[in-house]
Amino acid sequence: MNKSIFILAIESSCDETSVAIIENGSSIKANIVASQVKSHVRFGGVVPEVASRHHVEQISQLIGMAIKKSGISGWGQIDAVAVTQGPGLVGPLLVGVTAAKTLAYIYHKPLIAVNHLAGHIYSSRFMSELKFPLLALIVSGGHTELVYMEGDHRFEVVGETQDDAVGEAYDKVGRLLDLPYPAGKYLDVLAQKGDPRVYEVPRAMIDEENLDFSFSGMKSAVMNIVHNANQRGETIQSADLAAGFQLAVIEVIETKVRRALRTYPQVKQFVLAGGVAANSGIRTQLRKMMDEEFSQVEMLIPPLSLCGDNAAMIGAAAYPLFCEEQFSNLTINAKPGLML
Ligand code: KG4
Ligand code: ZN
Repeated sequence: MNKSIFILAIESSCDETSVAIIENGSSIKANIVASQVKSHVRFGGVVPEVASRHHVEQISQLIGMAIKKSGISGWGQIDAVAVTQGPGLVGPLLVGVTAAKTLAYIYHKPLIAVNHLAGHIYSSRFMSELKFPLLALIVSGGHTELVYMEGDHRFEVVGETQDDAVGEAYDKVGRLLDLPYPAGKYLDVLAQKGDPRVYEVPRAMIDEENLDFSFSGMKSAVMNIVHNANQRGETIQSADLAAGFQLAVIEVIETKVRRALRTYPQVKQFVLAGGVAANSGIRTQLRKMMDEEFSQVEMLIPPLSLCGDNAAMIGAAAYPLFCEEQFSNLTINAKPGLML
């Protein structure tokens, strides 16, 4: 019987400190996520310096907790240390990268640098083996990207946002509607109570024959609706506006994913990933579209617990790199602008 490979993974690119122990890239032995959202909510967004300080305070403790929870005997059983190298906030990333380099050095383990966006895609690895070629849609607070993959870690970005990420647009619209930060999930809940036909929100770039997105104009359209209503002394029906915005986002995303799957008919799987993959409307509508038009393509959506930032996905993405001995040396640095 082959020996199991255990990877200790660290994620600290934004406002979640997370440490996981992953067996053979597909089984979660521990995945501890310490969210800092309570510290940032009063600022209405993530404050990088506050985030860095929280990561420093949390990380050593979480490493100990993850090892204990995993049931492994200790460092002797760990085969490699993986860490998010980027993209993300430089201070937060540095905390994770420094911790990982230190652990790799002390315990003589290989170090594996992982791209955060690759991590989001590999969060589906806990649902099924990845079958290539696949198409992935990453929708998060910082990114909106359609990615074609011929094989493990072979990424081709075939479409992306020209301005705001979809999660960013959700957070900004939510703030306008006085929802707490991060507003995406609250806006999603509110949208389900509203009528999407009351307010007209444009579907940006929907008719353009490409796979790119633009969410900034859609966000501005919502802002204009609110400002105009305020000037006229009218009350905004928040649920209706949330529903109008959500439906516009869903229609744009559905149209672009459909176009991508028609462009790449050889695709075996479609992966939906990133924090916004938790959105009920997007999950439901894409699932429906897949059943109706692309039933030959397997759709993978991670459970809600693995949509947001977590270290399990970093461990999953690290495993194929481990198998190919794609290790990093201890001089690596955080890369806030890292691309796929
Ligand atoms: O992937 P993630 O945890 O962090 C980044 O890498 O950015 O994504 C966070 C984003 C936030 O913008 C948050 O508002 C959004 O995901 N989000 C949602 C939902 N849950 C989280 N957006 C829409 N609907 C949701 N249910
Ligand atoms: Zn993320």
